[in-house]
Amino acid sequence: MKILLSLAMIAWMCLALIAPAQAAGNIAAGKAKAGMCAACHGQDGNGGADPTWPKLAGQDPDYIAKQLADFKAGRRKNAIMFGMAAALSAADMKNLGAYYASLKSQPGAANDAQLAKLGEKVYRGGNAKMGVSACMSCHGPSGHGIPPRFPKVSGQKTAYTQNQLLAFKAGARANDGETMTRIAFHMSELEIKAVSEYMAGLH
Ligand code: HEC
Ligand code: HEC
Repeated sequence: MKILLSLAMIAWMCLALIAPAQAAGNIAAGKAKAGMCAACHGQDGNGGADPTWPKLAGQDPDYIAKQLADFKAGRRKNAIMFGMAAALSAADMKNLGAYYASLKSQPGAANDAQLAKLGEKVYRGGNAKMGVSACMSCHGPSGHGIPPRFPKVSGQKTAYTQNQLLAFKAGARANDGETMTRIAFHMSELEIKAVSEYMAGLH
């Protein structure tokens, strides 16, 4: 499992290297479209009142555009975001990606030190016994991600991250080419909670 995942990762990285440079989105055009997003994702992209509404600031622009396309097509299922993405064109998605990527991510914090310690072990070392790869091999040692394929996971809200990992584990979120679904499937709920706590404090 671990070897297979590593091979898949290398293949993606090669693809990323040979892929033609894509036209970048327009930050100003993205900002003009972001008015209706601010209620939940924050004026500065650092999230709203509900801890299950994710931060978007500083996220990889192509990852954001991909998620919006996935919500619109129903590949990633969420009733709220399905409605939000429905009216967006592919160009809007790129522009929104460029806009949110340009905003500064505010650091988050791990509130439970003991839980974060277990989370650190999973994040840095994986869990060989259960076939869980080290998260940092794809998301980077500081959680900044490896564009364009592996998103930033640092400083995100714990509750949002935990929701996503539980959704991957249950197969309810399956827009990831099976990478995360396979990984999360082997994680315990405690490991999921712990790694989410740890990643919130990464910066
Ligand atoms: C009413 C609240 C609400 C509004 C308004 C809203 N969102 Fe969301 N958004 C959410 C929630 C909740 C999620 C998490 C969905 C899930 O759990 O899968 C989300 C997830 C996302 C994600 C995925 C983030 C990730 O890290 O994978 C992106 C990108 C996103 N929203 C962009 C937007 C954009 C762009 C707009 C405006 C056009 C917008 N949202 C408007 C609530 C909202
Ligand atoms: C082989 C590479 C790989 C490894 C290892 C990996 N991930 Fe991922 N991860 C991905 C990819 C690819 C995505 C993006 C999926 C998509 O496009 O929707 C992702 C997405 C995520 C997301 C969703 C981010 C968001 O904003 O919604 C979280 C959370 C996450 N990974 C956590 C982890 C954790 C925790 C581990 C370790 C237990 C881990 N990942 C290991 C490749 C990997």
